[in-house]
Amino acid sequence: MPPESLVAHVAEQLVRLCRVTGTAPAEPVRLVADVLGDAGPRALAAGPGWPSDVADDHSPVEFSVAFDRGGPPVLRLLAEAAVADPARVADLTPALAFLHRQSGRHKLCLSRLEQVRDLFTTERPQGLFGMWHSLILRDVPEFKVYLNPEIHGVAASRQVVREALDRLGAGPAYRVVERVLRPADRLTFFALDLEDAGTARIKLYVAQHGARLDEVAGAAAVVPGIDPAEVTAFCELAAGSAGPYVRRPILSSYTFTSGAARPVGYSVYVPIRSYVADDREAYDRACTLLARHGFDPAGLAAAVAALTRRPLEDGVGLLAHVSLRLGRPRPGVSVYLSSEAYRVSAPVPRRIAAQ
Ligand code: TRP
Repeated sequence: MPPESLVAHVAEQLVRLCRVTGTAPAEPVRLVADVLGDAGPRALAAGPGWPSDVADDHSPVEFSVAFDRGGPPVLRLLAEAAVADPARVADLTPALAFLHRQSGRHKLCLSRLEQVRDLFTTERPQGLFGMWHSLILRDVPEFKVYLNPEIHGVAASRQVVREALDRLGAGPAYRVVERVLRPADRLTFFALDLEDAGTARIKLYVAQHGARLDEVAGAAAVVPGIDPAEVTAFCELAAGSAGPYVRRPILSSYTFTSGAARPVGYSVYVPIRSYVADDREAYDRACTLLARHGFDPAGLAAAVAALTRRPLEDGVGLLAHVSLRLGRPRPGVSVYLSSEAYRVSAPVPRRIAAQ
């Protein structure tokens, strides 16, 4: 019998993924039930309760496996707290309620969020989300929130981010990034670690619409210690071409810490699902990338097997993004995996995918 509710489906995948990463499953299962809230018991057959942008089929969750140097792979979950009113997806109330419920249990540090929250809040929110959560499922889970810089509209986003980073002591480092932003670039996510303020990081994600490879290199080059050639080689292999990348944007993320004059870390994300015919092709490329960066692809094989039994040729989008993390805190490769709770996207004929 297939599981009938969203939370049953996701929890089953989570338990199997925990086995792969060696994580105790009890707390991850509790967390996912809490974040899904009222959306959890909803029957899968009823379809998504709101059009969450976390995943293509509007599942409000996405898994990722982070391959790190010097440690086993780490399981993470991106989730959107149940949206009460589908007409107001960017309302922060349910997401904040989840954080407050968890903050006692897990000693979350909400002070930096409080310092900038007003900038990401409005009576008339715009865009596809207000706040998402990243749950890093180590034995003691770590929490991250994603805020929407475009909540006041696309045109206001650079001002919003500048003000937020100024308040958090990363204004000078943001100026360095601002100099390489292209007019077509969009500031899509502003992320905060909710750990103790001393070590916590701030991340800004830039979607580089239609970027050429040299423009991706330029975005990476402003971060000290990053080799742009490593970034472009990753993109070329993941996307299967030298660009320009027009189907869905490549993203760059910059990591900031308070007081640093420049960004301290950089990652690149390739929406691999838009550049392959099917998941077999995406999986093969991801295995090649993992091996190149010194990781055993067997971890990915096990994670994929934990999620689905369908043949990889039968759909596209199970592997949504692949990313390369460089610099602090940990270099490595991550693979973002869809839950496919509601739908599997049909594969694209190879002839079209190769164009
Ligand atoms: N589904 C959205 C997208 O693909 C948002 C998103 C989810 C995302 N996970 C991500 C974006 C990982 C970049 C990287 O754009």
